Amino acid sequence: MQKNARYAMEDIKNDEDIKVFVHSFYDKVGKDKRLGYVFNDYADVNWNEHLPKMVDFWSNVLFRTGRYNGHAFRNHLPLPIQLGDFDRWLGLFEKTIDEYFEGPKAEQAKEMANRVAASFASRLQMAGKFDKATTPSSRE
Ligand code: HEM
Repeated sequence: MQKNARYAMEDIKNDEDIKVFVHSFYDKVGKDKRLGYVFNDYADVNWNEHLPKMVDFWSNVLFRTGRYNGHAFRNHLPLPIQLGDFDRWLGLFEKTIDEYFEGPKAEQAKEMANRVAASFASRLQMAGKFDKATTPSSRE
């Protein structure tokens, strides 16, 4: 990666590292046309609350700290998320991790993001949240 080419890439080790990728990721999300609309215009997210919450979420996922015990999925149900938004979300997430970190924890973060995204997407689909036009029609 160009940005950190002078440094050997290290793995995610602690809260400081988690903060680095969480802040950088949501910076990209906020600037993305689609995702920025959902976060800033629709949900009017309070970033001062959301960012520490997401640091807790990832510290729990990666280091089992028990610091997040919220209801992640439930909060997505009312949002105007479309199926294609998950690809954008995951693309930015993986790009951010790869920009800063390398190693088993970095891989685990990307894998968990993919798993949670797939789970959210199928549960939103079952709840009838996606427009027909953006729903895959593999059986037709
Ligand atoms: C299209 C993809 C996604 C969109 C547009 C989206 C959007 C949002 C928004 C707008 C919030 C509410 C923030 C607030 O009001 O404070 C939120 C919360 C959250 N999101 Fe997502 N999200 C997406 C995917 C994901 C994925 C894949 C994960 C996990 C890997 C995730 C984890 C969370 C968590 C943990 C919260 C906090 C819920 C709580 O309040 O406890 N999101 N998301």
